[in-house]
Amino acid sequence: MRILFFGDIVGKPGRQVLKELLPALRREHAADVVVANGENASGGIGLTGETLRELLGMGVDILTTGNHVWKHRDLYGPLDKESRLLRPANYPAGAPGRGFGVYDLPGGHRLAVLNLCGTTYMDPLDCPFRTAETLLARLEAEEGAPAVRLVDFHAEATSEKKALGWFLDGRVSAVIGTHTHVQTADAMLLPGGTAYLTDAGMCGVEASVLGMDHKVIVDRFLTRLPQRFRPATGRGSLNGVLLDVDEATGRARSIRALRVACPAAELPGGADTSGSPNSPDSPDFPSSPGSP
Ligand SMILES: [Fe+2]
Ligand SMILES: [Fe+2]
Repeated sequence: MRILFFGDIVGKPGRQVLKELLPALRREHAADVVVANGENASGGIGLTGETLRELLGMGVDILTTGNHVWKHRDLYGPLDKESRLLRPANYPAGAPGRGFGVYDLPGGHRLAVLNLCGTTYMDPLDCPFRTAETLLARLEAEEGAPAVRLVDFHAEATSEKKALGWFLDGRVSAVIGTHTHVQTADAMLLPGGTAYLTDAGMCGVEASVLGMDHKVIVDRFLTRLPQRFRPATGRGSLNGVLLDVDEATGRARSIRALRVACPAAELPGGADTSGSPNSPDSPDFPSSPGSP
């Protein structure tokens, strides 16, 4: 099975570049399924119901999210009802939605997707390692459980991400990191057959700070005053990975990081009205210049 996975989609530029490039990329790589992280897709922070429908309509098959998934309350209903939308599985019981899904895809393919959030320099959620252990044990106890399993680990610390990769080696097909919005150069196949990448990067404007207007963020670092963040304007690009997985065993055959620039001219960014203004206290953006 060939899986295309894209990192955090940031605002309208991220959505536009995805809309522009996804059909050709899907064909070029003969992808059986497209998975993307949508936690920044509406206005740069969070995901609205309207943007969710837009992304599913443009060919994203499954959306994972992260710490910003709770930003827009109108998503709480879809989180409960839309099986193609996941939020990190290690939020406490009672939070809307689910963090684990099994999907029957066209062509007879079956795929399990697990979305987890890190806890180092992030909210103190349930342990992502033990949550993964519990959910995989439950899956493996089922007859006909899919061998192909993808994990989106939405986390800040590279050490926590690497550690989860080793912890799950041989039990899932891939552990791909999101949240930092910067693609790392460490794609590898672990010995047990798990493909690993610390961070897939983002879909949005790279001439920015994590997809946001760099002038605003620089000012924030200089003054330490709250700022209203806005998505950057400029040329967008897609950051992600292409995975090839043996469907019988679930072992990854290959992992390739993708970084594709949009051939079109400038993409609009700041005029996104699909989400509310960005909060200045986003964990995605360090609150002081010394923060990781
Ligand atoms: Fe993000
Ligand atoms: Fe995040």
